[in-house]
Amino acid sequence: MAAISPPTRRYSAPAWSSWLRTEREFEMSGWGSGYITDIAYIPGFYQAQMQSTMALAALLSGKKARLVGRHEAYHYADIGCGLGMSALIVAAANPGWQVTGLDFNPAHVAAAREMARQTGLSNISFIEADFTNFAESTACQALPEIDTVSMHGVWSWVAPAVQDGILRLLNAKLAAGGLMHVSYNVLPAWRGALGLQRLIREAGLRHGGRSDKQARAGADIAVRLAKDEAGSKFLEGMGNVLLDRIGNLPVPYLAHEFMNRHWAPCFHLDVAERFASAKMVFVGSCQMLDNFPQLSLSEGQRAILQEFDDPGMAELIKDLCMGRSLRNDVFMRGAVPMPLAQRDAALLSMTVALSKPRAECKLEFDTIGGTASLSPSYYEPVFDRLSQGPATIEELLALPDLVGRRDNPAELIGVLMGTNQAVLVPNPGAPMDRRCTALNAASVTQRGGDIGETGIGFAVPALGGGFAIPGIAAIAVLNQQAALSDETPGLVLQRPSPPTIDRWIDQLEPAADDARRGEFMTVFRKFFDEFAPVLNDLGIPC
Ligand SMILES: C[S@@+](CC[C@H](N)C(=O)[O-])C[C@H]1O[C@@H](n2cnc3c(N)ncnc32)[C@H](O)[C@@H]1O
Repeated sequence: MAAISPPTRRYSAPAWSSWLRTEREFEMSGWGSGYITDIAYIPGFYQAQMQSTMALAALLSGKKARLVGRHEAYHYADIGCGLGMSALIVAAANPGWQVTGLDFNPAHVAAAREMARQTGLSNISFIEADFTNFAESTACQALPEIDTVSMHGVWSWVAPAVQDGILRLLNAKLAAGGLMHVSYNVLPAWRGALGLQRLIREAGLRHGGRSDKQARAGADIAVRLAKDEAGSKFLEGMGNVLLDRIGNLPVPYLAHEFMNRHWAPCFHLDVAERFASAKMVFVGSCQMLDNFPQLSLSEGQRAILQEFDDPGMAELIKDLCMGRSLRNDVFMRGAVPMPLAQRDAALLSMTVALSKPRAECKLEFDTIGGTASLSPSYYEPVFDRLSQGPATIEELLALPDLVGRRDNPAELIGVLMGTNQAVLVPNPGAPMDRRCTALNAASVTQRGGDIGETGIGFAVPALGGGFAIPGIAAIAVLNQQAALSDETPGLVLQRPSPPTIDRWIDQLEPAADDARRGEFMTVFRKFFDEFAPVLNDLGIPC
């Protein structure tokens, strides 16, 4: 997507730190149980946090789960919600759901509540809760049973006592059959970065000051030490990867990643054992390809994996072979098997849409065993059909080129989603609405103009969740949607004229010279030629 990012503006540390300076400055304090509390985290949207992603992962492993309609009564909770972006997106896209965001940092809670207030969302509440003892509080007792929980960027970053509190919370509140997503740093992949983290933290602490300054100072020491001509031995694998990226990472991210006292990457088997104490079982990965060892492992690796029949051992072998550094696991509190025919019927009824232009769809993707290739005669017709608009898995399998061939809905949907070429559309036809556009506008404003290359999560009714829109595409979408109202939900928007785009460029960079304007114009044109049709199919008019 780099092609539709702003011509030169980068996802850069200075812009992030100015957001920090103007928005939040906190005193160092001692209430964090080792977790940093003096600077806010970055706003973020993660597909793994969406209920539809968790439900699909569970279904792929043959467990009873379903996509939930946006007007159904349902309770979704985000544990350790940070600035609340994912929770806000879930609430905006699913007006019938109740959404709860929990975090112990009052600055996070205040910012998240303000965002909900500004955008008029009434189906979300943010509770200031320290997980160490929240399960025993009256606020927790008052909380209704939770149907789905997500915990992104929390588990391997907090103290064991906080993890224990989270387990008691889940035991008390997660519904029988409820889904949970948990992300965490994984061993052995992080082994090669253990020294790096410790060095950044220790050097940062000795430097002093606010956590972001400590993290930056610690990272500078790490870079200097690693790059010394005599060479250093404290980096392997992941450590080298991280070191290369460290200068480009937002400083608040660096601080929340490296400056916590109890950060500890984990083996999946140990995490699964902890969640078993809250009666939860592992049912799959939000990274869909990981659910298909035949696509991600070599023949020899699979043969060894098949000598064991417990999922924990399979996951250990996969983590060892694939070097996964971050897991996005799905657990269920009481997983009920679903007969295969029923499971396949559920998958066949699901609607999917392309998440990228047809010309960018690929038949090859990287796996640990090398490059895997999708059959052109099978997948080209699938991409061709999806380039005409969303389709159900049943419709795709009924395409003339596919009939009589691999009649496997799980593999088709798993590959489309796992290669990030398609997304699930749980509410096909649901139009964009004022709740979502208000939140999307506020999200862009929150970034203070630094919209970056990684994209901003836009709330989308048809998706029952969000979609990350990169670079200035987000500006184009917002400007176009200014023409929408609740009275004209299905309105087809006209492509903007060059003078209109010129006005957008004025907003973005009033002092842009002709050459710079030309660059912007090219990027906007490319957006409307290639990416806008994809967004329209996802229910994002633009
Ligand atoms: C890395 S951030 C992740 C935030 C958010 N989930 C995301 O991915 O953007 C971890 C979050 O956990 C919260 N947290 C850490 N320790 C906590 C505790 N003891 N109780 C409640 N929240 C805690 C922090 O305030 C922070 O917002």
